[in-house]
Amino acid sequence: MRNTIPQLQERAKGGEKLVMLTCYDSSFATISDEAGVDILLIGDSLGMVIQGRDSTLAVTLEQAEYHVACVARGSHKALVLGDLPFGAYQESPQQAFHSAARLMSAGAGMVKLEGGAHMVETTRFLVDRGIPVCSHIGLTPQSVHTLGGYKVQGKSDDAAEKLVADAQALEAAGASIVLMEMMPAALAARVTRSLHVPTIGIGAGADVSGQVLVVYDMLDIFPGRKPRFVKNFMEGAPSVKAGIEAYVKAVKAKTFPAAEHSF
Ligand code: KIV
Repeated sequence: MRNTIPQLQERAKGGEKLVMLTCYDSSFATISDEAGVDILLIGDSLGMVIQGRDSTLAVTLEQAEYHVACVARGSHKALVLGDLPFGAYQESPQQAFHSAARLMSAGAGMVKLEGGAHMVETTRFLVDRGIPVCSHIGLTPQSVHTLGGYKVQGKSDDAAEKLVADAQALEAAGASIVLMEMMPAALAARVTRSLHVPTIGIGAGADVSGQVLVVYDMLDIFPGRKPRFVKNFMEGAPSVKAGIEAYVKAVKAKTFPAAEHSF
């Protein structure tokens, strides 16, 4: 039986840290499932780590659909989270529904979309139609050109207030999880305290409900530069599965992330 969203929300409320990891194929899905990962994210990071592009922008809905189906086939316990690619949901709530429905048909149990207040209407539209949503705020890589690079977000008082308001508005619109990327740890902790739903952080410190990393980063497979928030879990691990188990254990035990991985 797969993890359900209410079960994961309950576990987070009880103080258990949730473990999310990106995944793009069936073999990694099986290993990650067995290692105890709670949520498998078919991230549009596949554009970089699988396709060798310099951003996530060129990933298509068809490609996302294909990788969601591969991961769903390889796993049976983890919740499967499909990332809506750039251009597949920003135009209108209707466009978002059609794209999200394709990922759900391919095997996703929830979809992720980037953006704050401007995604409230779309979030409500999807949730009202039976599609659970994970909102993604802070550094939103699909907006890399608007943001001027992969930079920590929410550093000024105004930007921090906006992120808190964004998270609250998305929760009110029905988001089941709020994912925060590259935000000061103190701000991510404040957002987490202000919400009822779980938060998942990546470069957002330890005081959140759970963590996510890109699997190719934490296994030291991706040859590019590693962001500060990445830890190499292959160090001392005899196998890929042991590396993923070490990540699961560290998140559950609250030993990852440490201060050195945070902003
Ligand atoms: O696409 C992805 O892998 C993501 C994570 C970085 C959260 O969105």
